[in-house]
Amino acid sequence: MSEERVIISTSEQGINMNILPYRLYQKAKRLGIWNPEDIDFSQDKIDWETKLEPEQKEGILRLISMFQAGEEAVTLDLLPLINVIAKEGRLEEEMFLTTFLWEESKHTEFFRLLLNAIGETGDLSHYHTGTYKKIFYEILPEAMGRLEHDHSPKAVAEAAIIYNMLVEGILAETGYYSFHRSLSDLGLMPGLMEGINYTKRDESRHIGYGTYLLQRIISENPELYDHIMNKMMEAAVLGNQVVSEGAEATAEGSAEFETDAEDTKKFAETQFRARLSVLQRAKDKHVDDIYATKEEEIGVVD
Ligand SMILES: [Fe+2]
Ligand SMILES: [Fe+2]
Repeated sequence: MSEERVIISTSEQGINMNILPYRLYQKAKRLGIWNPEDIDFSQDKIDWETKLEPEQKEGILRLISMFQAGEEAVTLDLLPLINVIAKEGRLEEEMFLTTFLWEESKHTEFFRLLLNAIGETGDLSHYHTGTYKKIFYEILPEAMGRLEHDHSPKAVAEAAIIYNMLVEGILAETGYYSFHRSLSDLGLMPGLMEGINYTKRDESRHIGYGTYLLQRIISENPELYDHIMNKMMEAAVLGNQVVSEGAEATAEGSAEFETDAEDTKKFAETQFRARLSVLQRAKDKHVDDIYATKEEEIGVVD
């Protein structure tokens, strides 16, 4: 006989509507409801066919191919983490995570709709560089898949470092940065940029949750702190490699689209340092203080 389950929402405990993951859930219901199908890609198609040089298109296609594969991977790989959180009875966190997974599906849909609209239906996997492949084809699925049989805080922390800090944090954020640098100034591909802006806002909640999750694990398991910091550093090295490889490949393109690797790396490093310092402060905090974390402290701006 299994133990009788505890129903949280009818208990005295109820749903804790003040803690950060619940506030992120509320935000997601307000801001995460955009529909990729509503985005008009007709101008993107014109820009793609008549205004962009072949080298420019090559650089954009490389970025899109990495986003498309990345969004698909995070959609397929998230489930084991949600299961761990559910098994631990963290109702408010799971409520947020339902929005998280739904949003990843929409991001996957968005990039595919764009590619279809501009007629790029061929195989794009040749754009995935060595380190990119290592992360998305091996490290990410392994870190997330491990959670199917290992629910230890150490395994969850390692998964969050790869998923939220490396993939969503370093890689996706530098990707948005590159899109803005190359397209916003030229005023081209408005449908792409519209979707990127929605995606970026969704991702700030995802990364915010990851930062919260790691803070909570550090606060509940201070003995894991050094290990988490070491893993963060390993993730930063991998992130840097992907940025360098992407910049190298793009540097062969036109001057206007040449990515300044150093600038992008600096941007990634600033974002990463800010998250690192949040985690460093978590060591001396009680878990109640972590629950009370304000959205601004973890970079969730709207
Ligand atoms: Fe995403
Ligand atoms: Fe995400």
